Amino acid sequence: MSIKLENVTKTYFTGEVETHAVKNVDLEIKDGEFIVLLGPSGSGKSTMLNIISGLDNPTSGKISIDEAVISDMNSKQLTKFRRDNLGFIFQQYNLLQTLSVKENVEVGREVSLLPFTVEEVLEQVGLSTQADKYPFQLSGGEQQRVSIARAVVKNPKIMFCDEPTGALDEEMAKEILGILQKLNEKYKTSVVLITHNPSIGAMADRIIKLNSGEVVEIIVNKNKLNASEISWG
Ligand SMILES: Nc1ncnc2c1ncn2[C@@H]1O[C@H](COP(=O)(O)OP(=O)(O)OP(=O)(O)O)[C@@H](O)[C@H]1O
Ligand SMILES: [Mg+2]
Repeated sequence: MSIKLENVTKTYFTGEVETHAVKNVDLEIKDGEFIVLLGPSGSGKSTMLNIISGLDNPTSGKISIDEAVISDMNSKQLTKFRRDNLGFIFQQYNLLQTLSVKENVEVGREVSLLPFTVEEVLEQVGLSTQADKYPFQLSGGEQQRVSIARAVVKNPKIMFCDEPTGALDEEMAKEILGILQKLNEKYKTSVVLITHNPSIGAMADRIIKLNSGEVVEIIVNKNKLNASEISWG
């Protein structure tokens, strides 16, 4: 699905203080693109991702995903739109501790229109043999792979990822990024990925740089690298 932002602004009001987290952003993301959102802490990356994906409302401006104008939707419509079309991966894994690996992934599958099977997705993230374990029996990287499997199994049209590798070491991070890359190449899932690490831009189609809530640069990457080939910063 393609995404279009027209003059999008997000301002937070806390007491006397106004924070302009996203300022007058115009942007188009094409169907099937792999986008890396880069910028320093506080530059508005998470805010931007949250409003692009309908987790939060913009203060003004228009956001469309294909024909759907999500900035006009009420919260019930947004919930349905997200459930049917979007996948999310965050730095925190948010797994259900009382459910096994398999059952956690099943939760993602239940809410979907065209899901993959739990088995094929666990295979993809290399967790087939761990399906009956519980989250506390897994390493951090393995838990992150479960959260990826849970997001992937619903076969989303767009995958939004906020620092998905922020808590992982280089080797595990590249493995996770490789899974996202495969999803993008094989199923043409659009990916919007936030990171602090500029070297991850090497695997993107385009790198969008934010500073103080504004898009300051867009870099088109002609020679995309495999996740495993990235030289880590
Ligand atoms: N709920 C909120 N209320 C008030 N201000 C907020 C809120 N959320 C974010 N902000 C402010 O908006 C700005 C952008 O925050 P945002 O979380 O989008 O940054 P970020 O680029 O994701 O940073 P990081 O890399 O540290 O995660 C910051 O100045 C932040 O303090
Ligand atoms: Mg953030």
